[in-house]
Amino acid sequence: MNKIAIVGIGPGAPEYVTAAAVKAMEACDVLMGGKRNLDTFRHLGKECYVFGSDTGDLIRYIEENKAAKKLCAVVTGDPGFYSLLDLLAGRFGEDALEVTPGISSFQYLFSRLKKSWKDCKLLSLHGRHAALAKVLAEEKQVFVLTDRTNTPAKIAEDLIEDGYENITMTVGENLSYPEERIITGKPSEIISQSFSNLCVVVIEKNELGA
Ligand SMILES: C[S@@+](CC[C@H](N)C(=O)[O-])C[C@H]1O[C@@H](n2cnc3c(N)ncnc32)[C@H](O)[C@@H]1O
Repeated sequence: MNKIAIVGIGPGAPEYVTAAAVKAMEACDVLMGGKRNLDTFRHLGKECYVFGSDTGDLIRYIEENKAAKKLCAVVTGDPGFYSLLDLLAGRFGEDALEVTPGISSFQYLFSRLKKSWKDCKLLSLHGRHAALAKVLAEEKQVFVLTDRTNTPAKIAEDLIEDGYENITMTVGENLSYPEERIITGKPSEIISQSFSNLCVVVIEKNELGA
């Protein structure tokens, strides 16, 4: 039986795609992923299956095609960080999968900041609700995946509301792409700015508290 490949392609720019990721994609018949991710790999000449936010469609497609074709889910960052790994392992079992790691958005941003991420709490507000204030009560530094609703400006607004107006926010936008921006400021400085839909945020308490 064909294994289902899940390949992490890093933050987005082709130079952060590992040689192992390319090898794993080359070994497959079909690449499955978001349009932007798949466009980067059209040159591999593989059949492509584009899926959106409805993972039900993806699961059905895999069920119908996995016996006849070697399938490969192409995901941003690392497959094990708020990605498809849990879903596909839960549905098909770990033994049915082959996983190739990728450079996660948090690894990329911390390397650009020249800071270690070992003490940072990793959190996702991507399609989820998490009580950020509760996490901040216990952690000095939090990395957050954002989405269209939980934008950097909305996070800044929530932080001010929760009394964290002196905290430091760093927004990493379009990381690794030519239009990358990394901006640091207090929530009052971030709240008025608009960013693209591809952002992560690092929130750090200052020595004086927040
Ligand atoms: C479904 S999560 C996937 C996270 C991914 N598995 C990882 O390891 O980074 C998608 C979120 O990752 C973040 N993200 C992924 N690539 C990014 C990039 N190039 N620049 C900024 N944020 C990015 C955004 O917060 C986006 O909403």
